[in-house]
Amino acid sequence: MRTLVVDHPLVAHKLSVLRDARTDSPTFRRLTDELVTLLAYEATRDIRTAAITVRTPVADAPGVRLGRPVPLVVPVLRAGLGMLDGMVRLLPTAEVGFLGMVRDEGTLLATTYATRLPEDLSDREVFVLDPMLATGGTLAAAVQLLFDRGAHRVTALCLLATPEGLRHLEQAHSGEDRLAVVTAAVDERLNEHGYIVPGLGDAGDRLYGVS
Ligand code: URA
Repeated sequence: MRTLVVDHPLVAHKLSVLRDARTDSPTFRRLTDELVTLLAYEATRDIRTAAITVRTPVADAPGVRLGRPVPLVVPVLRAGLGMLDGMVRLLPTAEVGFLGMVRDEGTLLATTYATRLPEDLSDREVFVLDPMLATGGTLAAAVQLLFDRGAHRVTALCLLATPEGLRHLEQAHSGEDRLAVVTAAVDERLNEHGYIVPGLGDAGDRLYGVS
């Protein structure tokens, strides 16, 4: 598994405003959207392309188009939805699947309550959107499901991650070089309630304002 922490002043600035408890939901949604676009830029660095030739007003020029089959973007509901627009703005031809997963706040175990994905993901590049890589349980289960359906490569975009969550994911998918995590920061730790410290609180509540 490859982990990429995007080290950029704009990313750090937007993340700092997201962390601030005084940031309201409309601002939080807008900044999440902007931050995802910056993460997506790095997350798609190795995306498959095919060589083409385009005719400029002057001459032929070598170019590229995105490879086929088109990539699949999968937001993990609920909070991952807040990352969808920013991602598909950069990948407008991508298909979108949905994965509903909920974490039991007592056991911190993830269960799947909804899947709307192609049955066969053979040869597909998949981008999973999940803002908070906390225990890693939800993402590990999501990644397993995608590889079980044949995904060629899975890249997770997270606003924040923890060392514990990254370790869990690494262990759950040990030796898997088709898995990558792209995040804006790796925070200090998880607290006893499974929240990221210092983190930004409950991403779903901050995006949508309801529990
Ligand atoms: N999910 C969140 O929304 N926030 C955390 O800190 C951990 C999990």
